[in-house]
Amino acid sequence: MSASKLIKGKNIVLRPYTQKDFKLIHQWVINPQVTKVTGEPVDISLSKLTKSYKEKIKGNYYLLFMIDFKNITIGYCNIFYHYRNPKSKIVDIGICIGEMEYWGKGLGKDTLTTLMNYAFDILNMEETTVTYNLTNKRMKGLATKIGFKKTKWEIESAKITKENFRETDKQFPIKK
Ligand SMILES: CC(C)(COP(=O)(O)OP(=O)(O)OC[C@H]1O[C@@H](n2cnc3c(N)ncnc32)[C@H](O)[C@@H]1OP(=O)(O)O)[C@@H](O)C(=O)NCCC(=O)NCCS
Repeated sequence: MSASKLIKGKNIVLRPYTQKDFKLIHQWVINPQVTKVTGEPVDISLSKLTKSYKEKIKGNYYLLFMIDFKNITIGYCNIFYHYRNPKSKIVDIGICIGEMEYWGKGLGKDTLTTLMNYAFDILNMEETTVTYNLTNKRMKGLATKIGFKKTKWEIESAKITKENFRETDKQFPIKK
């Protein structure tokens, strides 16, 4: 599955990936400072990584977006239909801001909120989940802030309905 349009957040824009973006994704994935808390393999080759993404996208259960901020590509994010089922009403959202200088500036929240609005309003999802390691304090803080409720302890997983998302989104608006 491939998204064709731009999705505008408050300060970020989510755009469809292009072939050359895989080089960027690879740089971020192999940077242990970026991915040490995510559990992603850091020693993967560019060709293996590109192939794995292309396989996923072909499968009709996966959407990949690049995150642009002020015309700079700072990371990527994705939507993964549960059980690899394109008819599922639950999707898992993944997010990686690979350019570390952009961490802690509200862009992760902007990205996650934008993707959730897209998942609930455009894809008509009933629930979204996020999955992260317990050591990932930043992601845990972000998920908690947005209102996700924990469902598992080992690898932490959290979920939220559209209704609950709307409630917390009103309480913590993104600053322009
Ligand atoms: C995790 C990640 C997406 C967070 O995005 P971010 O832009 O750094 O986070 P934000 O600035 O949007 O912060 C949003 C909220 O998260 C929480 N948060 C941010 N940094 C935190 C930290 N170091 N510790 C605890 N909570 C934190 C805060 O509650 C914050 O809200 P507030 O500033 O209004 O209090 C980003 O840092 C990233 O991509 N990291 C590397 C890859 C990764 O870990 N991806 C997630 C894998 S599942």
